[in-house]
Amino acid sequence: MTGPIRKAVLPVGGLGTRFLPATKAIPKEMLPVVDKPLIQYGVEEARKAGIEEIIFVTSRGKSALEDHFDYHFELMKTLEARGKTAEMKLATAMSPAAGKISYTRQPEALGLGHAVWCARNLVGREPFAVILPDDLVLHPEGCLAQLVAAYEQVGGNLVAVEDVPREHTNRYGILDVVEDDGRLAKAKGLVEKPDPKDAPSTLSIIGRYILQPEIFDELDRQDKGAGGEIQLTDAMARTIGSQPFHGLRFEGRRYDCGNKAGFLEANIAYALERDDLRETARDIIRRYGATS
Ligand code: G1P
Repeated sequence: MTGPIRKAVLPVGGLGTRFLPATKAIPKEMLPVVDKPLIQYGVEEARKAGIEEIIFVTSRGKSALEDHFDYHFELMKTLEARGKTAEMKLATAMSPAAGKISYTRQPEALGLGHAVWCARNLVGREPFAVILPDDLVLHPEGCLAQLVAAYEQVGGNLVAVEDVPREHTNRYGILDVVEDDGRLAKAKGLVEKPDPKDAPSTLSIIGRYILQPEIFDELDRQDKGAGGEIQLTDAMARTIGSQPFHGLRFEGRRYDCGNKAGFLEANIAYALERDDLRETARDIIRRYGATS
């Protein structure tokens, strides 16, 4: 019933204004959580989910992202001459093979729906994944692999969801739920960033999607929605009726690295996961916890 999900689109065109001045000259997706840039977590998660091709939708000033996934000849030669094999592995282990990574530009910041639409020719007519690298999910298999497994069960369009406090519904896409078994919620509608008093539920979309290619037909309309932007949520909402739409409550903890508090928390949480840093991180937390 469902074909494999081979391609993932990663929109990385945003200006990152919430992280100025850090993001004046470097893309926000290059900000590290502990010692790895946000974007690398996204690509690693895609590969754990069986994704073969990575498609970045970039913009001006994002060339550091392309360099990050390139082979750095000079660095590799220097590390090799110094016998630094562990570092060599870190610098190459996850780069997608030649021809398996593509870049296309979003010429204007017209919204997430528009960014995904910019990838339409690279995706073609097959189901695909979308990963928003601002959202990190701490789980051994990652979030997308869970979504792919659920997709094999239900098909159609599928997003990762989590319950949020009602006062936060205006930050996310929200599901209008028709059936809910506690793990998979079937939606009859979607609303982008509703006011808490109008929100049809508190089940919010996080940045992991599996979409059918018909989404591009909806995005072709270029209709503007919340905030005057071309919204992916609105295009997905219009497919409901002709295609099933589900939200998966994933396992693992999500960190919204699009804001400073989420980014800070992710750094602490990911440091605590690391064998080489856990004790140091605990010690720091104890010390600051005691003085605050
Ligand atoms: C986007 C989507 C929204 C989704 C969110 C997840 O919003 O438009 O539906 O809930 O990502 O992070 P943004 O964070 O770009 O404002």
